[in-house]
Amino acid sequence: MGGGLAGIRAAIAAAETDPKLRVAMVSKVYPMRSHTVSAEGGCAAVLREPDSFDGHAFDTIKGSDYLADQDVVEVFVREAPLEVIQMEHWGCPWSREPDGRISVRPFGGMTTWRTCFAADKSGFHMLHTVFQTSLQFANIERLDEFFVTSLITEDGRCEGVIGFDMRSGEVRSLAARAVILATGGNGRIYAFTTNGAICTGDGMALAYRAGVPLKDMEFVQFHPTGMPSTGILITEAVRGEGGYLTNAEGERFLERYVPNKMELGPRDIISRAMVTEFEAGRGLKGEYGDYMNLDVRHLGSEVINRKLPFMRELMGEYMGIDIVTDPMPVRPVEHYMMGGIDTDASGRTPMPGLYAAGECANAGINGANRLGSNSLPECLVFGAAAGRAAVHDARGVKAPGSNPIAGLVKDETRRIEADFLGRSSGTERVGEIREDLQKMMDAQVGVFRTGDGLKTAVKELAELRDRFARLKLDDHSRTFNTELVTALELENMLDGAETIIESALARQESRGSHARRDFPDRNDEKYLAHTLAYHTRGAKPRLEYRPVRITQWQPQARSY
Ligand code: FUM
Repeated sequence: MGGGLAGIRAAIAAAETDPKLRVAMVSKVYPMRSHTVSAEGGCAAVLREPDSFDGHAFDTIKGSDYLADQDVVEVFVREAPLEVIQMEHWGCPWSREPDGRISVRPFGGMTTWRTCFAADKSGFHMLHTVFQTSLQFANIERLDEFFVTSLITEDGRCEGVIGFDMRSGEVRSLAARAVILATGGNGRIYAFTTNGAICTGDGMALAYRAGVPLKDMEFVQFHPTGMPSTGILITEAVRGEGGYLTNAEGERFLERYVPNKMELGPRDIISRAMVTEFEAGRGLKGEYGDYMNLDVRHLGSEVINRKLPFMRELMGEYMGIDIVTDPMPVRPVEHYMMGGIDTDASGRTPMPGLYAAGECANAGINGANRLGSNSLPECLVFGAAAGRAAVHDARGVKAPGSNPIAGLVKDETRRIEADFLGRSSGTERVGEIREDLQKMMDAQVGVFRTGDGLKTAVKELAELRDRFARLKLDDHSRTFNTELVTALELENMLDGAETIIESALARQESRGSHARRDFPDRNDEKYLAHTLAYHTRGAKPRLEYRPVRITQWQPQARSY
């Protein structure tokens, strides 16, 4: 499920592992519209000396504020270069050095240059590469614009999905010996986000409601540099290439917060620094609130056009600014969910038959703060692993029978009709509830949090759920009913938001992206542990904790 980088990589791995298998690649959008397309800055991997696996692993673990599972990180850093070379063989147009080697650039929190890139459209080119590669596999069948509404489970095992073809509205089942969720994050629960409209956490909600825990949901990444008007990502590569941030006084304020790394500090610390400066009255004032300047004028037009052409285009189109002659206005923006479906290093979830990879999953590498450029290799490494594991495990499994499944399709059709399509007497609109959810998340569950703010969020979320129960849909047709799709997405968003709020309220410490003003210190004694949020019927999520796995890097104070 999912047609982005992780989903397509998983489909290819499965198809390659057993060419006789039928692999369905299901996506609610045409795959080239998946959110991977908007990844910009690059893909981290150890390609050459003096870089080392230990170097990449340590940077990732320190970046995670020691919440990463170190055994998984060690697997990840070893697999990442193999995936980058695989992409090379599949034709990815990486940017190159004059001698033909793949170029690397510096990125935040990394101690050396290890981020491979394709100008500033890395995700776009990587997605093209895997999509085109997938077309050569006769055993991959695509179902584009198919919206999955539930998982089929039998005796605790996942045996397929039920959903509808968005063109016809027909509810169908897809029986399967293995299901891989690679459906992306749920950044759209925030108003100011880099995420595309499709990022509504559908896969997370499907797994959660089926009994699989969502892990570390309290950790939400705010990228320091969003375009103030739209939230469009202004890539960290701008700072990697030498851009710098200044406040209203023209000062490079990061000297006060990350003096040794400056603009190449990790995202959580830089975002907090920016908000702290805003609160001290040192932000620039604009139509969309406070912002900072991000300046690349000193790089000159040749470097900007070669390395950051998309940034020049975006700032020109949306803000009317030429970055060759003017600084870019930027402010922190929701960007990425560290939390996700609980998996191990192979993409297996605790539910047999169910796998997950990419942003919807949490294999354990990102902990409390992901380093920029670790997510594209994460999609490749864990997408491929999940594809292989699914095929391996499916070998001894009997294909699910059609009898109970036909009954489940009827039940799901009735549910969609009763709870959504048939609802003409309600009073509440999808768009209004969604907007209020987004405003509430921005206000109460942002860069800094407090117990009181999170309690307000709990209360407001309950009110939003009440309103959702009084939903009214105007469109009762079956053909491309986008109102139905957005209503189902909103249900998923409410579930995802609740796990974030409850997990954040329970974690009474500050770690990585989770900054509690009322608990400003990290507390390893109590919270060197993953939060696991379990769905419960009609009540708030049940939370459990699982200790972090440490191999060779003991937690230390995290300073840069
Ligand atoms: O800034 C960026 O280009 C984002 C990269 C990432 O989130 O990995």
